[in-house]
Amino acid sequence: MPLVPGIRLHLADDPIGLWQRTELTSGRTGLDPPFWAFAWAGGLALARYLLDHPEIVRGRRAIDIASGSGLVAIAAAMAGAAAVTAYDIDPVAAAAIGMNAAANGVTVLTVCADVLDEDEIPAPGTDLVLIADAFYQRDLAGKMMRFAERAHARGAAVFIGDFGRAYLPRGQLTPLASYDVPGQSMLEGSDIKHTTIWALPGDPQGALTAPVRSSVRGGRVAGYWPTAAAAEVNTGR
Ligand SMILES: C[S@@+](CC[C@H](N)C(=O)[O-])C[C@H]1O[C@@H](n2cnc3c(N)ncnc32)[C@H](O)[C@@H]1O
Repeated sequence: MPLVPGIRLHLADDPIGLWQRTELTSGRTGLDPPFWAFAWAGGLALARYLLDHPEIVRGRRAIDIASGSGLVAIAAAMAGAAAVTAYDIDPVAAAAIGMNAAANGVTVLTVCADVLDEDEIPAPGTDLVLIADAFYQRDLAGKMMRFAERAHARGAAVFIGDFGRAYLPRGQLTPLASYDVPGQSMLEGSDIKHTTIWALPGDPQGALTAPVRSSVRGGRVAGYWPTAAAAEVNTGR
């Protein structure tokens, strides 16, 4: 995969054609697009970030919400997470996540369900909530943000990969790093998408606090858990 050459995924060369064939062979119409068959810019950037910063993942329990192909969940597992659970509402995505995890030799527990409004999720003990490219619809974005805030209030760190979809609440987020993600022309209209890793402000787990760094492949970087001043420098505000 671009940006994360150590990760292999089962994807489609032609997601639109695959979507049409899935509807034809299943005899159903109105199916969601095969989101799982494409590595989205947010996922690629967040996967790169986790692999570059294994210290924030190692030994921790992570969940990847709206996992799609499982790309971010797989990166978390490769970076040393103690356990990774991937959630998606698409049963084909759930199957793809299992196949992709196996192709990379990692274990990812997959749950096919919409848990965004389930108060018991994330379960106590969840350390990291990972969300990539999930702010593309108003309702979904609202539910996603409420889920993220609930997780954060329970002590989980929240990381989001997103190039600036319409419903990303960027005013509520702190930018940590940016990557120029290649290979996006098929679905995004331009090959390179400048994509940011965001966090909910504050470090709910003191153990995650780390000094600001300035050397990550692939783009501008402020570091992680930056002070407000560092975040301002990074965005040029
Ligand atoms: C644009 S894809 C992003 C996939 C992956 N995170 C990536 O960056 O490559 C969005 C994913 O969100 C999933 N999704 C949509 N609504 C969801 C919900 N309520 N709960 C979990 N997943 C959801 C879709 O099925 C799809 O796989």
